[in-house]
Formats: sequence, structure tokens, C-alpha cells
Amino acid sequence: MTRIFLHPLPIRIWHWVNALAFIILILTGAQIKLGNAIHFFSFQTAVKIHSWLGWLLVFNYFIWVIYYFSTGNIKIYIPPLHRPVEFAKKALRQAKFYGWGIMVGDENPHHSTFENKFNPMQQVSYLMIMVALIPLQLITGMLLWDPKLFEPVVNLAGGLQIIDLIHVFLWIFFSAFIIVHFYLATLGHTPMAHITAMFTGYEELHDDHGHGHGESHEHGHEEHSESHAQDKSHSH
Ligand code: HEM
Repeated sequence: MTRIFLHPLPIRIWHWVNALAFIILILTGAQIKLGNAIHFFSFQTAVKIHSWLGWLLVFNYFIWVIYYFSTGNIKIYIPPLHRPVEFAKKALRQAKFYGWGIMVGDENPHHSTFENKFNPMQQVSYLMIMVALIPLQLITGMLLWDPKLFEPVVNLAGGLQIIDLIHVFLWIFFSAFIIVHFYLATLGHTPMAHITAMFTGYEELHDDHGHGHGESHEHGHEEHSESHAQDKSHSH
């Protein structure tokens, strides 16, 4: 059994605070919007929890920003657009794996390392989520939280209804995203392999084949330690 270091502590903290807060925000958001149909909380309680957790997410987002930009590791999120054909081929191979290969026991074509953690589909979707959709959700949330305070921005964006529409649309998007993301997170060599790695930092690879997110066979197995991986990230 080999272990590979993938997730540094700030990212693990960011991720699980983010995940838990998102789930509760989705539920309280549902209560706020669909109060006639569902009764998890009272309207006032839902608004209170939703506002506090929204602010928690704003601060939490900065953990992600500070970690990735100060270490330069943000490059793992950037698709290699200077090699578009190769990237498109790899993305297609990955899509085929998720759509078909996984059901017939093929090996995951992507093998994560600390420096190349994401497959092309993860790279594009995570980049979009982290630099566009989460910030947009947080900003529209802040504007809805106190429209009077942010009146000039609200007007600039086209009014409260437009902002509400964007916020609700993203609420639907994130509700769907969590379901797909959770399903994909269970596709490691065991259903809990990727999820456990997001807690411990280390993904355990089985030395046979089929280690979903493991180190590539071509590169051999290598045990990264947290400090080793971080040293490497600084030296790049
Ligand atoms: C049920 C809740 C969740 C579970 C079980 C979960 C699980 C995981 C796992 C196992 C990973 C490791 C890498 C991978 O395989 O993709 C991961 C990464 C990631 N997740 Fe989640 N996740 C959850 C919620 C969320 C939410 C709500 C968001 C954002 C809205 C999110 C955004 C991300 C991002 C951006 C990464 C990459 C982080 C990095 O390594 O830089 N996750 N997630």
C-alpha cells in the first residue's frame, strides 16, 4: 500500500467548512424561498442561519484564495490552454471513463499527484466554481442581505429582482452540483477513498491497478509527505 499526499490542511479545512455550510445554506435557502411547501425551520430562523453561514462562507473563501495564491499552487486549477487539442482529448477520455469505462472496470485515465491533482473535467468545473460561481453567489448573497447598504451596486446590477434571480439560479446549480460531486467522490478504489483523503490529506493507493486518483504507473509510486509536497510547491 502506498500513500500519496494530495490535500494540504488549509484546503481540507476550507473544503469541509464549505461543504457543511453549503448543505445548510441550500436547506435554509429552500425554506426561505419555498416556505409554503416545506417546514424545516421557521422563516426567521432560516433567514438568521442563512445570513450567518453566508458570512462564514465569505471568510472561509479567503482561506482558499490565500492558500492557493500565496503558494502559487493555483496553477493546478488552470487548464493547459496552450495545448488545446491534447487537453480536449484528455477531457474526452475522462468523460468516456465516467460515462462508460467505470462500469466495465476500466482504470481511471487520470492519476492524481500533488502537482497534477485534477483531471481535465475537474479542472474546468472546479475553476469555474471557485473563481466565478462561488464569488457570484457570495456577492449576490451580500447584496440581498442588506440591499439598502449596497444600493448603488444593486442598481448597477439591474435591481433586486435580477440579483435574486442569479442567487436562486446558483442555488439550483449548487444543489445539483453537490449530488454529482458526491457521486464522483465515491468513485475511488473504495467508495470512501477520496472522501477519507479529503480528511487525512493522503490518498491510499492499492498497488494493484484501478487506483482512481493514484500516482501514475509510469511515474512510479512515491510517498509524498505534507511538508515534502509543500516544499515542492514552494520551489516551483
Ligand atoms: C457532500 C459534500 C461534499 C463531499 C462529500 C465532497 C467531497 C470531495 C472530495 C472527496 C474531494 C477530493 C477531490 C475530488 O475527488 O474531487 C473534493 C474536492 C473539492 N470539492 Fe468537494 N465535497 C462536498 C461538497 C463540496 C461543495 C459544496 C463544494 C463547492 C460548492 C465543493 C467543492 C470542491 C472543490 C473545489 C474541490 C477541489 C478542492 C482542492 O483540492 O483544491 N465540494 N470534494
